[in-house]
Amino acid sequence: MCGIVGYIGDKNAYPIIINGLKRLEYRGYDSAGIAILDDTVKTYKCKGKVADLEKFVADKDISGNIGMGHTRWATHGEPNDENAHPQVSQNGYFTVIHNGIIENYSRLKKRLKDRGYKFVSETDTEVLANLIEYIYLKGKVTAEIAVRLALTKVIGAYGLVISCKDEKDKLIAARKGSPLVIGVGKGEYFLASDATPIVEYTNSVIYLNDDDVAILKKDELILKTVHNDRLTPKVQKVDLEIGEIDKNGFDHFMLKEIFEQPRAINDTFRGRISADNTLVHLGGLFNVIPQLLAAKRIIIIGCGTSWHAGLVGEYLFEDLARIPVEVEYASEFRYRNPIIHKEDVIIAISQSGETADTLAAIKLAKNAGATVLGICNVVGSSIPRYTDAGVYTHAGPEIGVASTKAFTAQVTVLTMMALVLAEKKNTISDKERKRLIKELVNIPKTIDKILKNSEEYKKIAELYKDSENFLYLGRGYFFPVALEGALKLKEISYIHAEGYPAAEMKHGPIALIDKNMPVVVIATKDGSYEKIVSNIQEVKARNGKVIALVTEGDTIIKNLADHVIEVPQNDAALAPLATVIPLQLLSYYIAVMRGCNVDQPRNLAKSVTVE
Ligand code: F6R
Repeated sequence: MCGIVGYIGDKNAYPIIINGLKRLEYRGYDSAGIAILDDTVKTYKCKGKVADLEKFVADKDISGNIGMGHTRWATHGEPNDENAHPQVSQNGYFTVIHNGIIENYSRLKKRLKDRGYKFVSETDTEVLANLIEYIYLKGKVTAEIAVRLALTKVIGAYGLVISCKDEKDKLIAARKGSPLVIGVGKGEYFLASDATPIVEYTNSVIYLNDDDVAILKKDELILKTVHNDRLTPKVQKVDLEIGEIDKNGFDHFMLKEIFEQPRAINDTFRGRISADNTLVHLGGLFNVIPQLLAAKRIIIIGCGTSWHAGLVGEYLFEDLARIPVEVEYASEFRYRNPIIHKEDVIIAISQSGETADTLAAIKLAKNAGATVLGICNVVGSSIPRYTDAGVYTHAGPEIGVASTKAFTAQVTVLTMMALVLAEKKNTISDKERKRLIKELVNIPKTIDKILKNSEEYKKIAELYKDSENFLYLGRGYFFPVALEGALKLKEISYIHAEGYPAAEMKHGPIALIDKNMPVVVIATKDGSYEKIVSNIQEVKARNGKVIALVTEGDTIIKNLADHVIEVPQNDAALAPLATVIPLQLLSYYIAVMRGCNVDQPRNLAKSVTVE
């Protein structure tokens, strides 16, 4: 949940670290800090964003060629200067930055207190720093041994960078459950929570695995397990352009990512659909097709927006491939003793590939003997490594905290999976399948067209930006879209918003409707059109304000709704990809007009690596 950056080499460490922290700020932004190793270890940290840290160090000595930096999303202890990282051990021997949670920290803290340690912060990280120091001083061992021994006593998750004031020529990094990547340069190494701070220097990376410990000097890398077994580092090439992680002239990453969706969807199906648009081929699933065809049911797991994509998947698999599907919040699934059969296929959906609850649910399903597949965006992240097979979305890095292009790329993959299974199971005609493939290939153009109407969405945003509540309604394939529209609005504009299946409105939510309630209805002609028209009438009869998403040329709803947003006609199975776009933009413009920090909404972080 936090961002970690480290550098060791001949360059000035500070600019590399501070730029890296800016790239990782989407992971957490309530406090930040750095430590630069020179003759001494210089540590600076403060509450606030990386920009606040920059101001704070403006008049400080930041020279040195080795260092580490951290941008935090608070778990233990409120965001303040003391709880910011780096955390330094009581006698100043060890400096630690940490992403993750030490679950047994209170027991370890008590033991250290009994041995005379005093704590200045409320963090679990300070406990770890002191534990390492205690072992180091008591055992008279090297820093590396002290770190490894301490880690064997720790329960929980960590991505760590550690330095020791007696061994200032090295950084020690370790991973369990929280991601850590090493960038391999010439006579220099970089460390980061993901590859985005690294790619402007090198595209050679090593993804650390759980229980790995790396001991880095500027021209030496030793990789071992926490139990001291030597490992051979596996250097991989990361395929990421620097332009992909800049705003490219857009005001916010979120806006850039919304506009990138035609490209992201295209990249996601490119090479997976035959040139004549008749066949879908997903290489990542090749080995598990028999399990998928034999599956009595598919269980889709995910959190937040990825869960919403999973709901679209439910409609797709049931509709096209006639396979029963259950969609589960990973956080509920893992804790409720679910019944999992060996014949079940689990599909875990995650943009980051690091969401702790999703990972835990995967492990549970694997232990139960089910086949587990992943749909992830971040190459080399944890979920693809824990799953039996999977398909990457090729959305490119998603930096805005609110997920946009990842959602449409996930739905694209689910659509392709459903089409593959429909073909193999013969559940839809060849003609129908080919028509859907053609429509999928055409979706980027449809979205381009929708994106051109952004001035229209701005006008609606202006009218409703001060509303306190919103309802979103949709039926069938559009119910998940309604949920996603509501989530986008609440997370970036802090307006209370609810998504409902339109028919459920009369079972309760209708009581909320009055002249102050904007109701966004997805009412395109590809769903249960007549029924949704009735739902709109029900809202209007109670003086609600209707903002309806309709199919181009619709006249019936135009006469009923207060505002209409037109989208091109699509088959219902593909329409979620198009109809979600105006909802993303509406949320974006409302949030900007309300003066909200769109890319870094309060209390949130991009990847939720705590449970
Ligand atoms: C919403 C959002 C979150 C994530 C959720 C799962 O805009 O971004 O709801 O979708 O935290 O994250 P991933 O997909 O990384 O597992």
